[in-house]
Amino acid sequence: MSTIHFEAISKQFVDATAAAVVEVTLDIPSGAFVVLLGPSGCGKTTLLRMVNRLIEPTSGAITLEGEDIRQLEPVQLRRRIGYVIQQVGLFPHMTVAQNIAVVPELLGWSRERIQARVRELLDLVALPAAEYCSRYPAQLSGGQQQRVGVARALAGDPGVVLMDEPFGAIDAITRATLQDELLHLQRQLRKTVLFVTHDVEEALRLADKIVVMREGRIVQYDTPLAILTQPADAFVSHLVGAEDMVRQLGLIRVEAAMTPLDSAPGVGVPTLPAGADLRQALSLLLRSGASRLLVLSGGVPVGQLTLDRIRAATRVVESA
Ligand SMILES: Nc1ncnc2c1ncn2[C@@H]1O[C@H](COP(=O)(O)OP(=O)(O)OP(=O)(O)O)[C@@H](O)[C@H]1O
Ligand SMILES: [Mg+2]
Repeated sequence: MSTIHFEAISKQFVDATAAAVVEVTLDIPSGAFVVLLGPSGCGKTTLLRMVNRLIEPTSGAITLEGEDIRQLEPVQLRRRIGYVIQQVGLFPHMTVAQNIAVVPELLGWSRERIQARVRELLDLVALPAAEYCSRYPAQLSGGQQQRVGVARALAGDPGVVLMDEPFGAIDAITRATLQDELLHLQRQLRKTVLFVTHDVEEALRLADKIVVMREGRIVQYDTPLAILTQPADAFVSHLVGAEDMVRQLGLIRVEAAMTPLDSAPGVGVPTLPAGADLRQALSLLLRSGASRLLVLSGGVPVGQLTLDRIRAATRVVESA
């Protein structure tokens, strides 16, 4: 069952020479985390904003859970779709709790239900309600504001969440934390997420599937690993740095890149022999969605590997 289906969608802005989106046909499966990836100006935001009718297509059709979105009132439609953008757009004169409660209030929920929902969501995005619920956006860090933005987008329990570079303005370390939290959230809630970025690493890290776009068209729609290892053409390969990366990863042994265990091995953490290569490690990380792998030697854990560590290792080879 697909949640969102784009059928030959095009968008030609009146005053633009080239079309922003050209004949895009695309299926977003229910519960999937799909990332739109491509260079600036390739049409990612335009494609995304057509889903909640902030932009109307020039031609083609979009269905949401089987319904043509043109048959739906934009306001009704938007209550079924969470939306998070880079400049969060929190209401500055409203507290965190009031910001999150906007859609539930529109939906006419009871006071108790709204309060419980706000608390639950603040919990989910790791902001203790007791501390944050009465603060104003200006009293939060950028990362905390983004978390409130995510909580607000989830408040009405929409099946679909659209995110347009939500972490674009956030420093690398906080961004990695937010990415982890978002992944965790999505695994718990199984929302369908359509996420825009031009950051390749973010795409590889988050996506179940990546849509690579160029000049308004889809160049490839595949899993991160397939995009990395079987890029459709030179553009994709260059975009994700595929040739170098794959070659490099295949050259590096896991034991050369692993770091000491930073905590007890734990149950269910994927394992890999010390002699495997980083390409295999990357594949396992992406497939399992785990944040780290245990490296085994003679069946005993001797170290661990994270995605960041693999990237660091790749860069070392690059500059050598
Ligand atoms: N309202 C508009 N009127 C005219 N042209 C527009 C309008 N909005 C976007 N465009 C053009 O459409 C193309 C696609 O823009 P879009 O915002 O979808 O790109 P994007 O992939 O999101 O880029 P970025 O990564 O920079 O956000 C660009 O050439 C842009 O200039
Ligand atoms: Mg954009």
